[in-house]
Amino acid sequence: MSHNRNGVILKVEGLVKKFGNFRALDGVSLEVEEGKIIGLAGPNGSGKTTFINVVSGVYKSNGGRVIFNGEDITNIDSYKIVRKGINRTFQIPKPLLGLTVEENIRVAAVYGAKDKRKVKERIEYSLSTIGLEGFRFKKAESLTSTQQKLLGLGRALATNPKLLLVDEIAAGLTQKELKMIANMLLGLKEKGVTLIVVEHLMGFLDMITDEVVIMNAGKEIFRGLIREASNNEEVIRVFLGG
Ligand SMILES: Nc1ncnc2c1ncn2[C@@H]1O[C@H](COP(=O)(O)OP(=O)(O)O)[C@@H](O)[C@H]1O
Ligand SMILES: [Mg+2]
Repeated sequence: MSHNRNGVILKVEGLVKKFGNFRALDGVSLEVEEGKIIGLAGPNGSGKTTFINVVSGVYKSNGGRVIFNGEDITNIDSYKIVRKGINRTFQIPKPLLGLTVEENIRVAAVYGAKDKRKVKERIEYSLSTIGLEGFRFKKAESLTSTQQKLLGLGRALATNPKLLLVDEIAAGLTQKELKMIANMLLGLKEKGVTLIVVEHLMGFLDMITDEVVIMNAGKEIFRGLIREASNNEEVIRVFLGG
């Protein structure tokens, strides 16, 4: 696998995603350096989840390119993208109901496996990272909504991603839970995982991100430090609905 010298793990160029004639992504370009946490914010419907869906291969794009570790992965199948080292969580957790926490994670670990021997190891790594070892034999549907979010994170981690795309994990959490998840994501960064974290809560993004990207109507309107975002005219206009 080729690596870029400047340490860019993800390079997105002019990404377009259309639903009918509507452009949910209208030419998004973004570079992410390895080991960083980038926040992705923007009003509802600005294309954040669509961005995650296209980069992770859930949706095919209608234009543009996605380069991961120097390799063009545009529009390849999602399971192949997972095996190359990108995985994501879902805004609304989708656990496999009727299966236990451990079984849910095992399915992901096998799906994401290039090396089947590492499956057991990855299940345990994942369970301990999300702190649900004590719940491994519990059915997914018996978990609280916060635990279901953690399980979603655990399933993504079980595939050993180098780049993790997190979709609004903080919505509806208590202050204590926010801190716990912030520390969890910072812990992943320390292990070398690169993260793109989609979030509305600026306070949460402030705790964990190196930089933020603000989207509006399928386009990037700002990239930089979070405190600079709050002084940016276009960002203010978009968020205050002017
Ligand atoms: N599967 C889909 N079919 C049709 N329109 C969609 C689909 N997914 C998203 N959209 C539309 O694309 C726009 C961006 O959606 P989304 O990426 O979910 O926004 P965000 O995550 O920023 O709130 C919205 O207008 C949404 O209604
Ligand atoms: Mg969304």
